[in-house]
Amino acid sequence: MNYRHGYHAGSFADVFKHAILVSLIQSLLKKKTAICYLDTHAGAGYYDLISEEAQKSKEFEAGITKVMGAEDPPSLIRDYLSCVQQINIRLAGSVVPSLRYYPGSPSIVRYFLRAQDRMTLTELHPQEYRILKKNFMRDSQTGVHLGDGYQGLKAFLPPKERRSLILIDPPYERPNEFIDIVVMLLAALKRFSSGVYAIWYPIKNRTTINLFYQDLKKAIQQSILIAELNIYSTNSSLLLDGCGMAIVNPPWQLDQQIFEYLPWLWNLLSVHQQGGYRVFSL
Ligand SMILES: C[S@@+](CC[C@H](N)C(=O)[O-])C[C@H]1O[C@@H](n2cnc3c(N)ncnc32)[C@H](O)[C@@H]1O
Repeated sequence: MNYRHGYHAGSFADVFKHAILVSLIQSLLKKKTAICYLDTHAGAGYYDLISEEAQKSKEFEAGITKVMGAEDPPSLIRDYLSCVQQINIRLAGSVVPSLRYYPGSPSIVRYFLRAQDRMTLTELHPQEYRILKKNFMRDSQTGVHLGDGYQGLKAFLPPKERRSLILIDPPYERPNEFIDIVVMLLAALKRFSSGVYAIWYPIKNRTTINLFYQDLKKAIQQSILIAELNIYSTNSSLLLDGCGMAIVNPPWQLDQQIFEYLPWLWNLLSVHQQGGYRVFSL
């Protein structure tokens, strides 16, 4: 396990993933009944952008820094930015909203949760887990667990609330991760068929992604929405051309909501207008 998210915090891929996460959580919070958020690969919770890791690649400069500096962002992006700014104010203890910290998925979701909601986080890396545990130490609505996120799907589903958003965001270090995800997802859906599952994935090679889509479509009965953001042209031979999110049981009109900001994000974050964006039902 070499992956540490601190090197990638606030990158274009984080911006894409977290904007969709905000759309999802806002959709689920439209109803008053409680929800449970499950984050299978939670990371550390917050990332200090002046840390050695973040400064090494400075990926945030091509992601959140650009979004914060852009004029007239779409409404959902404004909500996401407010969340990032409020978390910075709280952590830095200052009223001036500057960008020192980038919040990970647990902190972003926690910002939106109400008193009746709760969240369960799993993280396998002992060091990341220790930081995550410390970050949510005094939070009675959050449970933090050291262990395998896929086992967490078995342990924590179905949730007692019966309404749940599940983020599956692995580092894709394992060669069979795309195949494993489909198997794990299928097992999770057998335990809890009505959950909203969001799976993030890197786009490096189009053949791998097409196979992943085929496997998902074959294995899963529920509706699946795909959103992709590509900032380089296909198979550019760079490390990452883009990334995607597959959403099982997407909330009503999620596709339209994503269309309100994805073109704007692509225009801002793509490198020389390469790549593109897509939103479609599988
Ligand atoms: C992409 S990062 C997560 C980022 C986080 N979800 C966010 O959006 O801020 C993936 C995390 O998964 C952890 N990890 C790797 N394998 C895991 C496993 N089998 N179960 C749980 N966590 C795992 C890594 O240590 C890393 O912190």
